[in-house]
Amino acid sequence: MRNIDAFNHVRGESVYLDDIPVRQGTLYAWVFSSPVAHGKILNLDFSEAQNMPGVVKIFTANDVPGQNQIGGIIADEPLLADGEVHFWGQPIAVVLAETELQAQLASHKIQIEIEKLPVITDPREAHKVGKLIMPPRTFALGNTETAFAACEHVFEGMAESGGQEHLYIETQGAYAFIKENGSFYVATSTQGPTAVQRHGAAVLGIGMSRIEVDVMRLGGGFGGKEDQATPWAVMALLGAALTKRPVKLSLHRLEDMRMTGKRHPYSSDFKIGFDKDLKIQAYEVTFYQNAGAAADLSPAVLERTLFHCTNSYFIPNVKATAFSCKTNLPPNTAFRGFGGPQGMFVIEAALAHAAEKLGMEASVLQEMNLLKEGDEFPYGQITENCEAQNCWQTAFGKYDLPKLRDEITIFNSQNKFLKKGMALMPICFGISFTKTAMNQSRALVHIYQDGSVGVSTGAVEMGQGVNTKMLQVAARVLGIDPKRIRIETTNTTRVANTSPSAASATADLNGKAVQMACETLKERLKTHIAIQLNLPENTPIEIQEEQVWVNGKTVDLSWEKLVFSAFWSRISLSENAHYATPEIHFNPEIEKGHPFAYHVYGTAIITTTVDCLRGTYEIDSVKIAHDFGSSLNTNVDLGQIEGGLVQGIGWMTLEELLYNQEGRLLSNALSTYKVPDIYSVPKEIEVHFMDTKGSKLAIFGSKAVGEPPLMYGIGAYFALRNAIKAFRPAAEPKFSAPMTPEKVLLTLYPDFGSQP
Ligand code: MTE
Ligand code: HPA
Ligand code: MOS
Repeated sequence: MRNIDAFNHVRGESVYLDDIPVRQGTLYAWVFSSPVAHGKILNLDFSEAQNMPGVVKIFTANDVPGQNQIGGIIADEPLLADGEVHFWGQPIAVVLAETELQAQLASHKIQIEIEKLPVITDPREAHKVGKLIMPPRTFALGNTETAFAACEHVFEGMAESGGQEHLYIETQGAYAFIKENGSFYVATSTQGPTAVQRHGAAVLGIGMSRIEVDVMRLGGGFGGKEDQATPWAVMALLGAALTKRPVKLSLHRLEDMRMTGKRHPYSSDFKIGFDKDLKIQAYEVTFYQNAGAAADLSPAVLERTLFHCTNSYFIPNVKATAFSCKTNLPPNTAFRGFGGPQGMFVIEAALAHAAEKLGMEASVLQEMNLLKEGDEFPYGQITENCEAQNCWQTAFGKYDLPKLRDEITIFNSQNKFLKKGMALMPICFGISFTKTAMNQSRALVHIYQDGSVGVSTGAVEMGQGVNTKMLQVAARVLGIDPKRIRIETTNTTRVANTSPSAASATADLNGKAVQMACETLKERLKTHIAIQLNLPENTPIEIQEEQVWVNGKTVDLSWEKLVFSAFWSRISLSENAHYATPEIHFNPEIEKGHPFAYHVYGTAIITTTVDCLRGTYEIDSVKIAHDFGSSLNTNVDLGQIEGGLVQGIGWMTLEELLYNQEGRLLSNALSTYKVPDIYSVPKEIEVHFMDTKGSKLAIFGSKAVGEPPLMYGIGAYFALRNAIKAFRPAAEPKFSAPMTPEKVLLTLYPDFGSQP
């Protein structure tokens, strides 16, 4: 089945926030933000700004009727700065005017006096002076101390990975207005409608029931709208409350890049030990997470780094410690993989480092240490239906790895200035919110009297195709044509208390709820059929292909007739179902449990060619064996693999966020922040759908697919490294991602510039 949005997307007919027609009297907002990364606000002067044409209102923290607080996990983040500013671009005031341009021009006339305070942008520096978001956490298995003592080989090193701009095509924004009696409606581009509702209510000082949050779809989120869609929506709500007029706030690209948080940069130390058979016996790792100026989702992201610090490998003795370091950058936030990729990069660096010292290919060490059935993760969960070795072997055989290796060796021996490199990247990613309580969902299904169906869930469509999957689930359970079904907007008045659409778990969580609601409705209809047709008890009844089947044969009762008759028999045709993932639990006091419903596995083989005169490179091919379980929609899932992979390659190669000493973002536009384009995507992507067992906790056995493929991109870093070493075997490139062409060039010619 094709993605149900595809047709409208390519015709430009899909509705995003900016396509919603505005009401008469709408005001437009412009956010005035901090011009320094750390300081004390001494004076704010609006006198000139207030008199600019079209300006209706300028509001600050002083105008907040409720709490000026939007911190989700820790209450440490004001909606609008109150006295102090902690990052460049921190919102201070909001200007409302008749047009957006008027609001923008007026904001330029705001005078601010700030006493500058010292700026920290480096997580290790923050750690040194004790600036932490929360106490450190440690995951441990076995005893690393005794294990290291018995190791044949021990290696140590450091690895760093950079941040990443989400670059959703649709920037952050919201449109809010008053309904009546002090209740509000807000349309917004968020992954977390309930977060907007909760913080909106707290800021306005009203009950959540007075705020209706409505989400049609997102032009991409990638984690950047899990928490960080909230402030803009709340500012629009506050503006509407203060002026009693509709307020639209839609960030311009440069404002969005400057003011919002990104993937967390990490700096990490590792120590890895092997026995004489090259089995990993011990691994110690310390992560310094650059959290930015407030907690946001950093504690949860940090936790997932620890969960995935051993990636797809079994290590019997592990000690992993993580510090969430408070710096003067915009609060960093969720980004596809949610800290997992940062953890995996370090173990892959440790293996590459060890392999270099041992004079062998990293793939030997990787393969030797892959997880198998019954192995224990450092957090206590035991592998079930472990596909790590199966995926590796499948990739090895299906893509003829020995032949690929030979081709590269021959190519490199025949070319002086072009060198190829290859790397394998196995992945293992846990599916579930790591906070167990968040793994719940609801669905509301209405069958209308004409037989058409409306489905509401907590799932937010952001391009990942979840609406298509919800529709497939409903059509499959009800046994009807998908054309009859409409997936409604995600709306807090229809489905309440939603978890954000995140953790790759949206289709599983909401799909299970849809399945339950539809099954209940179907049972009700079957009971009605039995009564209407006077069937003896236990007669097999089915609803399939829009028909009623009794004893395996169709009877003269279509779906439409059935529904109509049930309606006139006063049978409820609506159902609300609640799903909570069974079996999962986690105890943070001992850092042990069974936090994930299941794991997703896969292996990618990545090859690259480096131009050793220029430092530029191409990704030649990526060949993947991926564990989809039994895919509900191979088109949608393939799209997720391709998109995730390219986003991961971007993070590891081109995308470089640079801040200066003063905490100002230098790569603040698409002229300086490079993302993969059509020229830099892999020339070839092959995806093999493994015939794996799925999991009963995956919707119809179709495993979650949203985030895992991003981590295949990590292989691009190591493929580049291998190509560099083919040109200059003595090179020891730092484990510092992204490996931009500049870095490649300087690694190829380390003495460049140092000679007369
Ligand atoms: N795909 C598209 N096209 N756009 C997105 O914003 N977000 C990713 C992934 N794939 C995203 C995407 C992230 S970060 C997550 S957690 C999942 O989709 C969320 O959706 P799911 O739970 O339905 O997989
Ligand atoms: N993944 C993604 N988003 C989240 C998580 C998680 O584990 N926990 C809270 N938000
Ligand atoms: Mo995805 S980072 O869990 O929104």
